[in-house]
Amino acid sequence: MSRITDLDARHVLHPHQVAGHPKPPVVFVEGKGARVRDEDGTWYIDGTCGLWVCPVGHGRAELAEVARRQMEKLEYYASFWEFTNAPAAELAAKLAELAPGDLNRVFFTNGGSEGNETAIKLARLAWRAQGQPERTVILSRKMGYHGVSYGALQATGIPPLREGFGPLPGDFVHLDVPYPFRGTTTDGLIAQLEAAIDEAGPERVAAFIGEPVIGVGGMIPPHDDYWPRVEEVLRRHGILFICDEVVTGFGRTGRWFGADHWGGLHPDLMVTAKGLTSGYFPLGAVLLSDRLMDMLDGQPIRHGFTYNGHPVGCAVALENLAIIEREGLVARARELGERLLAGLRTLEALPSVAQARGFGLMAGLELAVEDAAELSDRIRKAGVIVRATGQKLVMSPPLVIEPSQIDTIVEVLQRELAATPVAA
Ligand SMILES: Cc1ncc(COP(=O)(O)O)c(C=O)c1O
Repeated sequence: MSRITDLDARHVLHPHQVAGHPKPPVVFVEGKGARVRDEDGTWYIDGTCGLWVCPVGHGRAELAEVARRQMEKLEYYASFWEFTNAPAAELAAKLAELAPGDLNRVFFTNGGSEGNETAIKLARLAWRAQGQPERTVILSRKMGYHGVSYGALQATGIPPLREGFGPLPGDFVHLDVPYPFRGTTTDGLIAQLEAAIDEAGPERVAAFIGEPVIGVGGMIPPHDDYWPRVEEVLRRHGILFICDEVVTGFGRTGRWFGADHWGGLHPDLMVTAKGLTSGYFPLGAVLLSDRLMDMLDGQPIRHGFTYNGHPVGCAVALENLAIIEREGLVARARELGERLLAGLRTLEALPSVAQARGFGLMAGLELAVEDAAELSDRIRKAGVIVRATGQKLVMSPPLVIEPSQIDTIVEVLQRELAATPVAA
């Protein structure tokens, strides 16, 4: 055991481990492009970007340089009240330019949970400002993941993540997600949405929150007509649409945002994080539509985080977005996503694989196994990092990944899945 693994095992409480019974730590020490190296010198192909974070890949000196320069000049200052800084203002303008529709204003956060927390609070506040304080119900979805702070956790629809933390905030309703593999239909989902709005009372529903493509829950693209029809229902009842783009934002899906698919969606609030800085600095941004800003007009915003609009994070984000543009990574996600999906489809011939799915450079395998955790450990030992979620494997490699590395991912999966017994 190295000094670091020993210190870690004795002192760090990790998310998603059993308290007091940590698994042996894997210590990552270096990253380059789509690969990371552990302290024993083993290089892995990074099939997940850690947690779907890193479009531009690991070890980019440009981003370190931008952070260093900004730290030397102004490492931090508050963004409450009328205080601001140049990188934050520049980044807000850049996001407004890239985002679909009239998402022209930005509220900065440190990550995705805070973003969804912010979106839910602002949606309720906007209705209160409109003289409709009873509009508090938030429609979210089973299997959706929106983070783990209390409001975001209540929107999250994955039961084990919610267990033991109650009571959670009130007035949330969980609907089914589109899951074509399990036989859902858009007609059925829309009927359920209409019924839920009816039951709550349309005048009580503040917002609907959803990921364009289910990520953590298993990389599940929706039926093609799902989002346009959901938007039609929401529009008819005046319900706000919170689009959680924490995973799908910044090129991952082969467009800048998930909302750019299906003919273009029209979110009132769009929540982003992760790919915004490629993980080189913790930063999130909630984009707000002109409609929402009109609703909030005159309303004091008594909400904010110490690190709102962090100048270093915003400077890093600007350079990260410039790299994505300069290197054509959005189109690359589309092309390499096709290559990855074509490879994964060949695995459908194996008895342990029920379905291969992909959307841009997001991919998932629906497996005929009880639990994919042991399998993902074996795949890592064979040199590829993928993520197990229930009986599924999910992937989201850096957008700079090489075609040959995609092929290696598929080869390793083929080998390990061929050696995997099918659940009884
Ligand atoms: C869709 C989505 N929303 C929100 C979050 C929460 O983000 P964070 O972990 O930065 O709080 C995540 C994290 O994986 C996510 O996938």
